Amino acid sequence: MKHYADITDLKNLQETIDLALLLKQKPYLYEDVGKRKTIALLFFNSSLRTRLSTEKAAHNLGMKVMVLNVTDSWQIEFEDGAMMNFNTAEHIKEAAQVIAQYADIIAVRAFPGLKDKKKDQQEQVLQSFIKYAGVPIVNMESAIAHPLQGLTDAVTIQEISAKKRPKVVLSWAPHPKALPHAVANSFIKTMQQLPVDLVITNPEGYNLDPSITGATPVLDDQTEALKDADIVYVKNWSSFENYGQVLHNDTNWMLTLEKLGDAQLMHCLPVRRNVVIQDAALDSEQSVVIQQAGNRVFAAQAVLKLLLDHLAE
Ligand code: CP
Repeated sequence: MKHYADITDLKNLQETIDLALLLKQKPYLYEDVGKRKTIALLFFNSSLRTRLSTEKAAHNLGMKVMVLNVTDSWQIEFEDGAMMNFNTAEHIKEAAQVIAQYADIIAVRAFPGLKDKKKDQQEQVLQSFIKYAGVPIVNMESAIAHPLQGLTDAVTIQEISAKKRPKVVLSWAPHPKALPHAVANSFIKTMQQLPVDLVITNPEGYNLDPSITGATPVLDDQTEALKDADIVYVKNWSSFENYGQVLHNDTNWMLTLEKLGDAQLMHCLPVRRNVVIQDAALDSEQSVVIQQAGNRVFAAQAVLKLLLDHLAE
């Protein structure tokens, strides 16, 4: 694997899940694989889990880690041919190549603007690093994908599921702010490759990109969708059709303990309590959100191991 921009970059999803689970048992199994290798983690947006879990994953493989909050650095220009006499001080053509002199792998987090669908779908920041850096790039959440989270979710479902083919429901929930589609997109793309019965439920107007949801059933009746669910994955996203808009915040869509029934509860975190998910559900024994966040380390470690193997070829 040359880059990890999307879950589909994994040659074999099941083998990568197995690798992550092995690393959870034996975190230092490959502690020398990253010796004298450096990863640069570049953040254009905030993070708690992705930042710390990727750093921990790199340490477990013997790597050195450099973290840059890009907002503290020079403002980068991404447009080709730009006349840079306004705010941007450095072009991505130089910035990417310079960072690649210091780091063997570069990981990037850059959220969408949620104003211009076409522009966001081009994933300009992530793709520019892939184009210009010349080293493996890891997507730590781009405009349309969060594949480290997607892999983590697959690892967690494999860990918690008592059934060979669980019913997994991805449920929209209200949120006061316009949130990106990346987590939901990567979750769907990952689940579509696994032996699960995936159902998506969201209010009218909140259907995700049909090129991603494909043949997966989408119901606007949350009660119907949650019937006999084994695992409920809760997430908010803004409208895709009315791009980036919060159409409404129907509190009836908040996930409660009653709605959860006997299912297990997942969320990528951070989560707004009693807006997205009720306290009683989050604090119940059915919630695996902390275990899920813990698995971020081993999903990232599996991905970095595959990229380091590629560098060693
Ligand atoms: N789930 C997730 O990506 O968390 P952070 O935004 O804190 O990294």
